[in-house]
Amino acid sequence: MRFHDFHDTTRFGMTDNINTLKGMHILLGVTGGIAAYKSAELCRLLVKAGATVQVVMSESACEFITPLTMETLSGRPVPVRMFGRTRGPLEHIDLPTEADIMVVAPATADYLARCATGRACDLISSITLAFDGPVIAAPAMNTNMYNNPATQRNLKTLRDAHGWQFIEPNAGELACGTTGKGRMAEPSQILATLQRLVKTDLSGMTIVVTAGPTVEDIDPVRYISNRSSGKTGYAIASRAAIRGAHVILISGPVSLTPPAGCNVVQVRSALEMASAVDAHSDGADAIIMCAAVADYRPATVSREKVKKPQLSHIELVPNPDILAGLGQKYKGQTKPMLIGFALETENIETNATQKLKQKGIDAIVSNLASDALEGDHTRVTVYLKNGNPIQTDVIPKLQLADLVLNLIHQ
Ligand code: C5P
Repeated sequence: MRFHDFHDTTRFGMTDNINTLKGMHILLGVTGGIAAYKSAELCRLLVKAGATVQVVMSESACEFITPLTMETLSGRPVPVRMFGRTRGPLEHIDLPTEADIMVVAPATADYLARCATGRACDLISSITLAFDGPVIAAPAMNTNMYNNPATQRNLKTLRDAHGWQFIEPNAGELACGTTGKGRMAEPSQILATLQRLVKTDLSGMTIVVTAGPTVEDIDPVRYISNRSSGKTGYAIASRAAIRGAHVILISGPVSLTPPAGCNVVQVRSALEMASAVDAHSDGADAIIMCAAVADYRPATVSREKVKKPQLSHIELVPNPDILAGLGQKYKGQTKPMLIGFALETENIETNATQKLKQKGIDAIVSNLASDALEGDHTRVTVYLKNGNPIQTDVIPKLQLADLVLNLIHQ
């Protein structure tokens, strides 16, 4: 799963918490900060929402709140020490295997640093390292500690390379007497985020997502490609999986960790992507083409390194337009729904609406290169075959993912 910030959790107000997390097995990590006192309330809310909650505490957390409090609220023994054997000798492996999701609240600066460097020096770090599902953390610390470049770097690493999601701390008066950002999000905000994440409205659907660039080799050391981080496609795949869909993520080369719960097909060139899409398109409910497919490829791939003078005359041949091919193949059929992306530098509306028609697809998500490339946020206009365009502000790519998936759900 990719890492995104949830700035907007309060939007997802709850009127009824009963059973909204029924059947979920949540690993609740508590690390050593004063906000640990709020974890008791969070545990109570999660249990009330129907989740099975297995609490794990760091030794420092026990300085702020006792395991007995958490045991009483969760109804389960709370392991703390690496060799404490609360649940037998392999609890650092067994506990992560049982869980669907890990929530760490509060997540201290040191815990984040340990996880960003892959340390397994205590039970909670080991469990986190062994857990391969989605991790959601609510950092809490002094403002200077939070703003310190080391902490920010660790947050970025966990976000970009480990796929963590964060519920940002709130600004306000801190326990240390200063005022600033660092106060752990309220338990109700954390619960609301979880409820939003675990919707299962796409269960039973198969969704194919393409992501990243394609790479068209010239010779063993050179290639033609497009700039694409893959973040949008990975965010869509991640959200679709969490919302219950069977997800096939066909990815060009990117430096992102594949989201949990997706079948990942790694490809390199446009031709490889075309045949992977072809192999998985029948039976799909939707195909979302986020990939930045290279329009041309070298007519031949040289086995030897091409000499510099010859590089200015490389013969190119067009790649197949995968999406337009799907538009033809499924013309007149209700399934699969076809969604394309159009990254433009100008005339966004004209270009996007033309592509919508030419490719024979159901929707196209258009954005400006300056708004979208590389970052975690974007601003888009979605043009629909049937319906009015939808325009967004600058939003996290995760939120865009939900918007696109809502179109499929509708
Ligand atoms: O024509 P353009 O490349 O701007 O269209 C973008 C959309 O078409 C994207 O959804 C992209 O994944 C898809 N595409 C494709 N095959 C190509 C080129 C683009 O499927 N050869």
